[in-house]
Amino acid sequence: MKIVVTGSNGLLGQTLVNLLKKQPEKYQVFGLSRGANRSCRNDFVYHNIDITQKGLLTACLQEIQPDCIVNTAAMTNVDACEEYKEECNRLNITAVESLSEFCKAHGIHLIHISTDFIFDGAQGYYKETDPPNPLSHYGHSKLKSEEVVVNSNISYTILRTILVYGNVPNLGRSNIVLWVREMLKEGKEITIVNDQYRMPTYVEDLAVACQISIDKKVKGIFNISSNTLLTIYEIAQQVAEVFELDQQLIKPISTAQLNQRAARPPKTGFDLSKTNKELQFFPKSFQEDLQRFKETCG
Ligand SMILES: NC(=O)c1ccc[n+]([C@@H]2O[C@H](COP(=O)([O-])OP(=O)(O)OC[C@H]3O[C@@H](n4cnc5c(N)ncnc54)[C@H](OP(=O)(O)O)[C@@H]3O)[C@@H](O)[C@H]2O)c1
Repeated sequence: MKIVVTGSNGLLGQTLVNLLKKQPEKYQVFGLSRGANRSCRNDFVYHNIDITQKGLLTACLQEIQPDCIVNTAAMTNVDACEEYKEECNRLNITAVESLSEFCKAHGIHLIHISTDFIFDGAQGYYKETDPPNPLSHYGHSKLKSEEVVVNSNISYTILRTILVYGNVPNLGRSNIVLWVREMLKEGKEITIVNDQYRMPTYVEDLAVACQISIDKKVKGIFNISSNTLLTIYEIAQQVAEVFELDQQLIKPISTAQLNQRAARPPKTGFDLSKTNKELQFFPKSFQEDLQRFKETCG
């Protein structure tokens, strides 16, 4: 199977390429990302492509003739999306339109990644069928991207996920677990929001969910996260505990005090029963995932 991974320099992109490359007899992997290949492997075909350039993107896909496309590329910085709305729309919406059009014309399965930020966070433990109501421009753009995929009359899987963490080389952006670990290792005091609830997702699990979606070509929307709902403050405390760092350095702060540019949903978290049943995928607790992460990154 020829698999295209967009955003192959990113956290999920690199992790998925690594996972698929474990079975080279099964998957031929093509990574599409901006600039040079920043992963530490060169045993897959890499194309330096800005996927918002429709002509370049389509020509590249025509040449590859993929069996499946996994779209991990996105503008993921929520405050930057609020500030640079057009740039956000070009990548998070228009590029998804181009990918969907190509998939429709060639009968290709599209796997697209979405987010808990499509919800307003008033309720928590969201099912795939719950009504969205995004609070931020990022959330709006990702909801619109879902609508593009759903309405394009193609074979698709949408995986919604929450607060993804892990480690790969040359990351463009850090993530909550890496950042907390680094700051506490350096003995720095940090303030962490204590009234926003999330179910954090280990990127290795999200990559496995992508692989299941590639293999089964499951259709529809699925929730992917750990099974543990915590405040972001509690998440930081667990990081300190597992990595044996000083919890006293973590100070709580409220959302109101933080004064971020984009609004965040207070309480997300997913109901994972559809994922358990239909993907046969059973995410673990945050604590267990952190232990696994610790074993791989030391
Ligand atoms: N991270 C989270 O907490 C989180 C939570 C919920 C949902 N998600 C969703 O999960 C997916 C993967 O997220 P992630 O954390 O892996 O993101 P990421 O680390 O930011 O990776 C995105 C990748 O896309 C690349 N990219 C950006 N613009 C591009 C363009 N125009 N053309 C080609 N490539 C481009 C980026 O390149 P550069 O490295 O050069 O910028 C980056 O390598 C996204 O759809 C995101 O919305 C993430």
